[in-house]
Amino acid sequence: MELLYLSRRDVEAAGVDMSEVLPAVDEGFRLKGLGKTEMPAKIGIHTSPDAFIHAMPAYVRGVEAAGMKWVSGYPSNPSRGLPYITGLLILNDAQTGLPLAVMDCSWITAMRTGASAGVSAKYLADPKSRIVGILGCGVQNRAALQALVRVLPGLAEVRCRDIVPSASERYIAEMSQLFPKLCFRTVGTDREMIDEADVVVTAVPIVRSPQPALDDGMLKPGGLAIALDYDSAWTPGAMRQCRFFSDDVEQLLETRKHGAYFAGIPDRVDGDLGELAAGLKPGRSGSGERYFSMNMGIAVDDMVTAPLVYRAAIAKGIGVRLPL
Ligand SMILES: NC(=O)c1ccc[n+]([C@@H]2O[C@H](COP(=O)([O-])OP(=O)(O)OC[C@H]3O[C@@H](n4cnc5c(N)ncnc54)[C@H](O)[C@@H]3O)[C@@H](O)[C@H]2O)c1
Repeated sequence: MELLYLSRRDVEAAGVDMSEVLPAVDEGFRLKGLGKTEMPAKIGIHTSPDAFIHAMPAYVRGVEAAGMKWVSGYPSNPSRGLPYITGLLILNDAQTGLPLAVMDCSWITAMRTGASAGVSAKYLADPKSRIVGILGCGVQNRAALQALVRVLPGLAEVRCRDIVPSASERYIAEMSQLFPKLCFRTVGTDREMIDEADVVVTAVPIVRSPQPALDDGMLKPGGLAIALDYDSAWTPGAMRQCRFFSDDVEQLLETRKHGAYFAGIPDRVDGDLGELAAGLKPGRSGSGERYFSMNMGIAVDDMVTAPLVYRAAIAKGIGVRLPL
């Protein structure tokens, strides 16, 4: 018996892109909404106050994807020249339970996280959205923009804000190569980033005592906020002004119980992306309301993305076979 080992470089060389990941993640949410997934709330260990290593298992019926991601997030890593997010993913054969592959999970994490932002925008953003605000010009927001352009064809302008000015400049240099028709602007304040933005995606470090920069009244009426960074960027007042959605309500409420995060979210959560994708709840309904999507990242997203990489790697003969 053998498994396939895929390094980060192998995963990237498999050549899967957002045009495949986005529909797969959307379908994963639909199956979740229909109750066809098994996904216990993530558990984890915390080696320092703001660091985590999480175990994220899931099984997706229909796609027959099963496995687990073991992923860490260390806010102090970038200052060491290391990525914030690192880890491994085990993909299992759903029929036999055998491990099929062990692969680096950083690319998969970014792409499925970006795709989840695309799914939020598909169901909750104004379809005529023109301006997107990006807070935190790092790995996750690179992938998020790749997804947003696919669901919001009218996007014309991207306002980029990072606490490190060179990070937003690097972001613009890279993303403008991919999307030359978009107008990119570095902005020096949170206010300039959010003013007039139809969609705002935040992906700054998750810390236990955040000082959120985005307050009530800043998101324009009709706008959509997508938080990839828990409640690090938005004040309770800002979140409570919105119709509030999440990628997993159960996990959201479970995480809130532990006390460190989500104390300021609205009492009423309007639904999750699975319910929207499955058509069980209406998404965007009026033009004057503000919308919020709290996307914590769920294992279903990983498990619908990993088989795309696995199949592409097999087809291209990429990776190293290891004895089990
Ligand atoms: N929701 C999910 O599914 C999911 C998945 C992976 C990572 N994340 C989270 O996304 C966040 C970003 O991860 P990443 O991999 O993109 O990290 P990254 O280090 O690549 O990017 C983070 C960026 O935020 C900038 N930044 C830091 N503080 C800021 C502030 N106060 N205002 C503006 N910019 C600021 C940094 O300079 C950096 O450019 C982390 O909190 C991570 O835990 C979420």
